[in-house]
Amino acid sequence: MQKIIKPLIKFKITSILVFSFVVFTSCVTGQLGKRNNEDFKNGMVVSAHPEASKVGIEILKKGGNAVDAAVAVQFALAVVYPNAGNIGGGGFMVYRSAKGEVNALDFREKASAAASRDMYLDAAGNPIVEKSLYGHLAAGVPGSVAGMVEAHKKYGKLSWKEVVQPAIDLAEKGFEITKRQASELNGLHRKLMDINVNGTALVNLESTWQERSLLIQTELANTLKLIQQKGRAGFYEGAVADAIVAEMQRGKGLMTKEDLKNYRAVWRKPITGNYRGYKVITMPPTSSGGIALIQLLQSVEPYPLNRWGHNSDSTVQVIVEAERRVYADRATHLGDPDFYNVPQKQLLNLDYNKKRMADFNWSAATPSDKVLAGVIKGKESEETTHFSIVDHDGNAVSITTTLNGSYGSLVAVKGAGFLLNNEMDDFSVKPGAPNMYGLVGGEANAIAPNKRMLSSMTPSIVEKDGQLFMVVGTPGGSTIITSVFQTIINVIDFNMDIQSAVAAKKFHHQWLPDEVYVEKDAIDSLAAEKLKAKGYNLLYRGPIGRVDAIIKTKWGSYQGGADPRGDDLAIGY
Ligand code: DON
Repeated sequence: MQKIIKPLIKFKITSILVFSFVVFTSCVTGQLGKRNNEDFKNGMVVSAHPEASKVGIEILKKGGNAVDAAVAVQFALAVVYPNAGNIGGGGFMVYRSAKGEVNALDFREKASAAASRDMYLDAAGNPIVEKSLYGHLAAGVPGSVAGMVEAHKKYGKLSWKEVVQPAIDLAEKGFEITKRQASELNGLHRKLMDINVNGTALVNLESTWQERSLLIQTELANTLKLIQQKGRAGFYEGAVADAIVAEMQRGKGLMTKEDLKNYRAVWRKPITGNYRGYKVITMPPTSSGGIALIQLLQSVEPYPLNRWGHNSDSTVQVIVEAERRVYADRATHLGDPDFYNVPQKQLLNLDYNKKRMADFNWSAATPSDKVLAGVIKGKESEETTHFSIVDHDGNAVSITTTLNGSYGSLVAVKGAGFLLNNEMDDFSVKPGAPNMYGLVGGEANAIAPNKRMLSSMTPSIVEKDGQLFMVVGTPGGSTIITSVFQTIINVIDFNMDIQSAVAAKKFHHQWLPDEVYVEKDAIDSLAAEKLKAKGYNLLYRGPIGRVDAIIKTKWGSYQGGADPRGDDLAIGY
């Protein structure tokens, strides 16, 4: 029998979830974003902030390819969308060239060499929740700069100088913040001041932030200039590395110069799977997202979702039962593949996933405590933001990147002007103890020195008949996987255009807690009553997901889906 993650006491999970939703909703709520369902022939960028989308499209117009634009957008988001855009965090990229070559880049943060399994437990062995969430100890070694350098070195066409410059301009000259950003930053004023006694550009000492206030980030501009001049050495060595280490010493964090110097982004083989004649190319571990997405698709493929209809009671029931089983597997079997033997082949086996679905009962919900992770035979050898880009030649990039919680650990590196992540909370700090998204884990995702923490980020690309079809991804912690999944089936099974698929109301289940989270109006009242009668515990909550996607139409043009849950913008040309 596999090591099984034991369901925890319910009130504990619920209390963490209530807390995490407060943090999470701050990274997915907002004013209505602009929609864009027009056709464009030459390329498209969809991101969480209009200024970042503009940067990406300008790079494409200049003759840059999708990777050049992606690097420019990543750095621009670090300036204009500091809740999740970052240089102090990490992420994942899935790439597909116009010719069909695919690749995946893991620039996920790592635990410091001095990290240890029980570092967030008190003397009685209980998790101290605040410790993995806020302050210096919550930060993993950042991966974004190494990731962008790697991506650009392998695929970039324009010079490094050109792709970093737009972010420098935005930081140096400033940009006008949105209404939503103003209210978030005002709300964080006290907390940012408490953690950053020397202040940060994100704190307005003179008055409160207003919509269209100019945010100038001079220190960040200087850091970006060093990155522009020296590449990875501009961040992982020299003045910026010194500033990070000094910051760690100030706040009793763990990161050292060696941790920074040793950090490497890793190219990995993407995961691929088939669904109703489409091929899905997605992120392998250290993210759980790709494996879980393919498992979900394989689990529901035998069922006639199209005949049942979008979010009908039968459709919701089958999806929830699939999610329950897949998230139970996630909790037990997934972790950093450099440290743990992830049984990837077996989890991606069609028969395995079909068998996992064989025991559910149409007349009643399967209680989560009756669902354990699947038994794997033997050993096998072997506030986040998403943006999607396609260039003139048809190369595609799907990147999800994060500081974890909105504004990460809230620690701004003094003198260097950027926020550090709180990604350490994505480890399982104790077997069965939920993290900020209520996710549980065990040995596979236990803390160890230099290990990457498990992610749910699911940047993905879909092919049809060997041609590019869709680029998709989203933030949302544990709901990332189910939101990407629903966006894909909204297009493939329910024939929605991309903007409708992105905007469609979503629901989410993750094994534990045994609740189905539902966006308002996602499920009609009759279907909801039927599901409740079968024992499904529906819990209504705020926005789920913030998907930014692109689709290639059968006429060869591109259409963007920018999530109306945020300020997101699709721009094509
Ligand atoms: O890697 C993960 O799965 C999480 N750190 C993602 C966090 C996230 O999506 C927050 N966004 N709203």
